[in-house]
Amino acid sequence: MATELAHLDAAERRVNLVELERDGAVAVVLLNRPQQLNALSDELMEELVAALVELDRDEAVRCIVLGGSERAFAAGADIGVLAQTSPVEAATSERLARWDAIRRIGTPIVAAVSGYCLGGGCELAMLCDVIVASETAQFGQPEINLGVLPGAGGTQRLTRAVGKAVAMDVILSGRYLTAREALDFGLVSRVVAREAWLEEAKRLARAIAEKSPIALRLAKEAVNRAYEGPLQLGVAYERQAFGLALSSEDAQEGMNAFLEKRKPEFRGR
Ligand code: CAA
Repeated sequence: MATELAHLDAAERRVNLVELERDGAVAVVLLNRPQQLNALSDELMEELVAALVELDRDEAVRCIVLGGSERAFAAGADIGVLAQTSPVEAATSERLARWDAIRRIGTPIVAAVSGYCLGGGCELAMLCDVIVASETAQFGQPEINLGVLPGAGGTQRLTRAVGKAVAMDVILSGRYLTAREALDFGLVSRVVAREAWLEEAKRLARAIAEKSPIALRLAKEAVNRAYEGPLQLGVAYERQAFGLALSSEDAQEGMNAFLEKRKPEFRGR
């Protein structure tokens, strides 16, 4: 741990590497290592996972926005740390568990991506549920330029998101995708004006946060099953999830509200 901390200067150790804001039922988590373009150091990832896990346990939080700065969502794993990582550490360290912990977050996460979204940064955005991209966003897996390859799911998730041809192009050449290309290829679902990158993500998160948290979690997991596994298993999960959602008070409320022509009030019951 001492060596892991060695690359941080004293000032950096005093600041939060992750900033948290609450806006009603929406929590906004911002990576805050601007001098290094939010490179994902162990300390930053530890703070990020701790924040996400805590927010996921908080019933009042219905949606999370995860962003960086205007210049960079995140420029990848911290290359200084990576350069000193042994193969055994890479295969066994706490780092892998952190990525898995983010996948297990049940609360929907909207990634607000402005600027560089590279390497581990792109892998982090792909672990989120919706990506809102600024027109300035640049997505890439440039690990090949370092003599390695994506190590936090990039070869798998990018391929599933954009297909083999584009994934091979991006991963083998190290080239970046513009926000427009990312939209055309299906990596992101919305591209917004430069200055609106965070506000538009928050607006989407507020809309999501109004839905039933039970249905949201089940729907998130069901879509992830489509992304991660075979169709028939995903369909079987969806059937069970649908029955479970249907048995919730929120489903009664949602359907009654529709029939009574009023806005539903979902309580997560
Ligand atoms: N790790 C550590 N530091 C990084 C970093 C990273 N991934 N990316 C940027 N920085 C640092 C730079 O070293 C620089 O620090 P100093 O000011 O102390 O020199 C600072 O952030 C600003 O960066 P630049 O001066 O390079 O800024 P730029 O605007 O000229 O270039 C950039 C921006 C194109 C993003 C360039 O910084 C870059 O190519 N970064 C590396 C991107 C990369 O290769 N990411 C993949 C990392 S490996 C990985 O992620 C493995 C995995 O799958 C988990």
